[in-house]
Amino acid sequence: MKDIRNIVILTGAGISAESGLATFRGPEGLWEGHRVEDVATPEAFVRDPALVQKFYDERRANLRLVEPNGAHRALARLDSEWPGDLLIVTQNVDDLHERAGAKRVLHMHGELKSAWCLACDGRIPWVGTLSEGQACTDCGVAGRLRPDIVWFGEIPYGMDRIDRALMRADLFVSIGTSGAVYPAAGLVQTARYAGARTLEMNLEPSLGSHFFHESRTGPAGALVPDWVEEVLAG
Ligand code: APR
Repeated sequence: MKDIRNIVILTGAGISAESGLATFRGPEGLWEGHRVEDVATPEAFVRDPALVQKFYDERRANLRLVEPNGAHRALARLDSEWPGDLLIVTQNVDDLHERAGAKRVLHMHGELKSAWCLACDGRIPWVGTLSEGQACTDCGVAGRLRPDIVWFGEIPYGMDRIDRALMRADLFVSIGTSGAVYPAAGLVQTARYAGARTLEMNLEPSLGSHFFHESRTGPAGALVPDWVEEVLAG
């Protein structure tokens, strides 16, 4: 791709759908089975920590049952072969980008495989269940661990790094997101403002499709590997 040096890629639940992880909105979506206000807000955690931990324990357990798909692998290949700057900003809390081999990944909504200790403010690797009794492996205090997930009403991680990358981006690509949640849904506008070319790849038109110079509709597992070939071919 002519004059493309710095790339920012935003991914959403749709990139993990073909691996078998539920998206949020749509048939069988995670928000079909749970109310956001019951499992994904700080107030929910104060009100009923066991219910919130159970919701994330189930999602963490699912990680062991799924594998990265062709879209994750294609982005990992781009990450390893791309000579310029590249940042994969993911809204997803799964570890499929990393398991596919991607390195330059930023989880703006946190990660299932991390716990946050409210006693020492440490982020610690976590794979099992996260009931309220466990102790922090850093400070040893028990009963103060929460999922390291950015809930509704909380500030996403890495916004300064994301903003700096967008201001320097030549290409912004959005993959598998409905464009329903800000600030992620607004990144395309920042990229356009900064002069980047913008491309959306999604199963169906998203709420933000009109912001993109180009939209390709179809499954990420088919679209993303073809697009990566295109970009690497120059
Ligand atoms: N390939 C490409 N896109 C797909 C596929 C697929 N195989 N399957 C589904 N999609 C698309 C859907 O059409 C939808 O537009 O992925 C999008 C998923 O949208 P959401 O379920 O809203 O997920 P996402 O956009 O990642 O949600 C953003 O909202 O609930 C919060 O914090 C949560 O990170 C999440 C944020």
